[in-house]
Amino acid sequence: MKVGVFDSGLGGLNVLNTISQKNKHDYYFLGDSLRAPYGDRSSEEIRKFSTQIVEFLAEFGIDHYVVACNTICATSLDFLREKYRYTFLSIVDMGVLETLKTKGDVLVLATRRTVETHVYKNRIQKNSNRNVKEIAAVKLVPIIENGMEDRKSLSDALDEYLNFANKNKTPNILLGCTHFPIIKDEIEKKLKYKANIIDPAEYLKDHMDFEQSKKNNLHLFMTSKTIQTQKTADQIFEKKVDIEQVSLK
Ligand code: DGL
Repeated sequence: MKVGVFDSGLGGLNVLNTISQKNKHDYYFLGDSLRAPYGDRSSEEIRKFSTQIVEFLAEFGIDHYVVACNTICATSLDFLREKYRYTFLSIVDMGVLETLKTKGDVLVLATRRTVETHVYKNRIQKNSNRNVKEIAAVKLVPIIENGMEDRKSLSDALDEYLNFANKNKTPNILLGCTHFPIIKDEIEKKLKYKANIIDPAEYLKDHMDFEQSKKNNLHLFMTSKTIQTQKTADQIFEKKVDIEQVSLK
């Protein structure tokens, strides 16, 4: 199958790496790094950008889409599902389903826009009776997009965003932004207790029910390609990957 995967940037590449380890397809990826972070943009802008992305990828004859961006899911998924007849697998659906398998309180780390929609809190609490605390971890996406070179800012930001978890020993931490699993090791190091860290892509990997191809083919496109982007992409896939820089209309 031809599977289109998209995100505002590098987080989607991490999702692609996770799902492609188990599911063989002809993958077409678009990361809109030029306009990231989406998390600080309006819902209207995000809907406009995601339409451009879907139409860019549609040129390749995509059979199914994976929306590898929580912020796009939170703001634009209903819009996309109404506008197009494609299937859109949602990373938020996967995060909710995975979290519902766990027990105890939940801390959701996400972008500002995702937190404002309360998509995770509402959907988890609708199906289970527990506390869900949402934190807009707004400083992390720019640091990750810049290749995590600013270690001090990363460390300070994590201290700030994980303070609640460390104080309350929140059993589950849901990474509600696809950029955050890229720094999962750093998150674990900052926690003063053992938390269950939920990466929705891990659940997605086990729930892609389309017919598979014989081997993987990865076609990677980004709207901005810097030395840091390339370095982080190579680290994610643990090999040198080809990324083509494109512009969207
Ligand atoms: N990776 C995206 C997400 O999962 C958003 C990052 C951004 O703010 O651009 O929400």
